[in-house]
Amino acid sequence: MTRETPEQRLQPRKFIAAQVAAIREAVGEDTAINALSGGVDSSVVTMLGHRALGRRLQTVFIDNGLMRAGEPRRVVGLFRRLGVPVRLVDARREFFAALRGVTDPEEKREAVTRTFYRDVFGRIVRESGARVLLQGTILTDIEETVAGIKRQHNVFSQLGIDPQQAFGYRIVEPLVALRKDGVRQVARALGLPPEIHGRIPFPGPALAARVIGEATPARIETVRRATAVVEELLAGRRAFQYFAVLHEDRVTGVRRGRREFGQQIEIRCWDSTDARTAVPTRLPWATLEALAAALLRRVPGVVSVTYHLAPKPPSTIEAV
Ligand code: XMP
Repeated sequence: MTRETPEQRLQPRKFIAAQVAAIREAVGEDTAINALSGGVDSSVVTMLGHRALGRRLQTVFIDNGLMRAGEPRRVVGLFRRLGVPVRLVDARREFFAALRGVTDPEEKREAVTRTFYRDVFGRIVRESGARVLLQGTILTDIEETVAGIKRQHNVFSQLGIDPQQAFGYRIVEPLVALRKDGVRQVARALGLPPEIHGRIPFPGPALAARVIGEATPARIETVRRATAVVEELLAGRRAFQYFAVLHEDRVTGVRRGRREFGQQIEIRCWDSTDARTAVPTRLPWATLEALAAALLRRVPGVVSVTYHLAPKPPSTIEAV
């Protein structure tokens, strides 16, 4: 007998009703706050919290300087149109200051997490007077963190960290029983548009997870432009996730008859259902050539483009 996964048993409407009730119960007469990134997890949490609490939920979008092109305004505008007010906070300088000189992958994740929770969001939460933080942690985040594979951005209690003690607020996580496909079902049932529920995953450390080595404003801008190209050309292929990675090494190239010691972009495109395992998509050669041509033309300083071929495991989906 095969065991049912939580998603097979999931009834989105019942799930929504139960979580709305649970949020009301957890928050009581207090107010709650949540951070929206525009990913499907935080978007679902925003809608659940909004249904449960209305104006007693404050939603903030923190611009950490590490988001994709145009993302902050697009996400805030979309939720405003859905009737959910979102406050946009510009914290770009603080994040880049925390990332200065940091090259180790786990230290980079740690710098983003610390700046987010302790400094920027911690300060916003304290000033707001909210007692409860709603957060979109999902089952896969916990499994991978507990297994020691990768420190996810948003897992605390599973690591024995008490957020009340460490940061001064209580965390409620309505999605911890779900994997990504379950979250997408709930997003559809909540009436979120396809650009949210069909959106490819994007990591908590954002574009900092997509530069090898130091995440400076200039290097983030390079990977941001490359990401826009890759997303544009691979949209509609129905791959699980696709993006660009900026390498640390430079390689010799030649442009307009002159030697250029330039940058390398790696394209990753994955087939997967739940991110626990993944294989590179068999992209047609013509698509890869079109990607290379567009990246070389549209991203200044790039002289090399590669395609990532190793499956997960032993690779991981992100490069950092
Ligand atoms: P990896 O790289 O571990 O990624 O194979 C598995 C899935 O998780 C996403 N990812 C993250 N999501 N915070 C998140 O919310 C993170 O720190 C994080 N790191 C990776 C990744 O994009 C992929 O979908």
